[in-house]
Amino acid sequence: MKIPFAESFKIKMVEPIRSSTLQEREEWIKKAYYNVFLLDADQVFIDLLTDSGTGAMSDRQWSAMMMGDESYAGARSFYEFKDAVEQITGFEYMLPTHQGRAAENVLFSYLVKEGDIVPGNSHFDTTKGHIESRKAEALDCTIDEAKDTQLEIPFKGNVDLQKLEKVLSEQGAKVPFIIVTVTNNTAGGQPVSMENLKAVWEIAGKYNKPVLIDGARFAENAYFIKVREKGYEQKTIKEIAKEMFSYADGMTMSAKKDAIVNMGGFIATRRKDWYEGARNFCIRFEGYFTYGGLSGRDMAALAVGLDENTELENLVTRIKQVEYLGKKLDEYGIPYQRPAGGHAIFVDAPKILTNVPKEEFPAQTLTIELYREAGIRGCEIGYLLADRDPVTRENRFGGLDLLRLAIPRRVYTNNHMDVVAAALKNVFDRRDKIKRGVRIMKEAELMRHFTVQLERL
Ligand code: F0G
Repeated sequence: MKIPFAESFKIKMVEPIRSSTLQEREEWIKKAYYNVFLLDADQVFIDLLTDSGTGAMSDRQWSAMMMGDESYAGARSFYEFKDAVEQITGFEYMLPTHQGRAAENVLFSYLVKEGDIVPGNSHFDTTKGHIESRKAEALDCTIDEAKDTQLEIPFKGNVDLQKLEKVLSEQGAKVPFIIVTVTNNTAGGQPVSMENLKAVWEIAGKYNKPVLIDGARFAENAYFIKVREKGYEQKTIKEIAKEMFSYADGMTMSAKKDAIVNMGGFIATRRKDWYEGARNFCIRFEGYFTYGGLSGRDMAALAVGLDENTELENLVTRIKQVEYLGKKLDEYGIPYQRPAGGHAIFVDAPKILTNVPKEEFPAQTLTIELYREAGIRGCEIGYLLADRDPVTRENRFGGLDLLRLAIPRRVYTNNHMDVVAAALKNVFDRRDKIKRGVRIMKEAELMRHFTVQLERL
């Protein structure tokens, strides 16, 4: 008999979770204005809102925390952190920040000016926010194939090289840098190939433009390169990651993802000018440049997390679990962005709730229905998250409208995945009866999905 695959860890500490009744959930979601961000976590049974800062640290990480050096300047933990970053990325300079968006804020304060254009592959919403709030444009150059959720190609997160070259040749003077997000979260946790990273780097070189990697999930991306790209089968994740970063001038990182810490981030670069330019913004916004908003113990745990999560066993366990949920949905015929992503399954809501018009936000409606069904909290990565066009103030309906089920690292078992899949199947089975969606009552100008207040129609 073939011995089945099993997780590469055992569990030492547990945290109880509680299920609820339909009546309770209906009351809670109404009080939360049909926005799952406004729910209390205690009102959630299985929380797939995000994989950010929600992972379970290892015993090695917890023990590193006890050894954290809390000195204000030049702490030993800072140097452990800096060394781990340099070992894995090859970047010599590093500025800690309290999370990924803070890294964006610090670096973009130095690099982005009004009227700039920053091309990239589906900028994450905070990245887009930090560009647009500086009156610059985040230009999406993702390959068109990413929009077809049923198309199964290995590197659906790639940059469209023709789109990129067009903007560089026509408006190059306005481009301060190119940003490549690995994996491409907004397109469904889809990876970028090494070939594509290299090609972006070469085009950037031709126009003398720097490349920045948003590396929130770089280790998951490296895993996909190993298993899907020719020539990388025998390479270690660390070797692949090093090569990925060799095609960039620097990176911003939300360490809450692939470094498996509950809080943390950084900027790393080989460019002294970026480091020196950003350093004072780090001091102003985050804290002195050897702690940047983090405790010594946070930095110590981060250093260990980076090392651990660039080991194959950890990534196999992680990505197999995401695939497991995907296969369950295949069994039930539920459409999602194919193939399964690195950190999440992105369910194609308009293909399910065909009666709900786009103006009534199908993915948000599906998110609410899944919560009502079993207390499972996913989140909308769709028309609400896309915000309005800054010029016309119209809703942006051009992209995908997805319900994201993001899986925290090392937190849930496959039994939980079975519950998620069964609950979604129940919603799927009654999809024809769901005829109306939601209407916006109150919204913020930027990043509205976090606080939006909705009415159920
Ligand atoms: N870049 C990417 C690709 C991200 O996915 C995120 C966060 C950030 C940057 C910002 O990092 O949260 O540490 O400030 N994504 C989370 C998510 C919030 O749920 O996907 P942060």
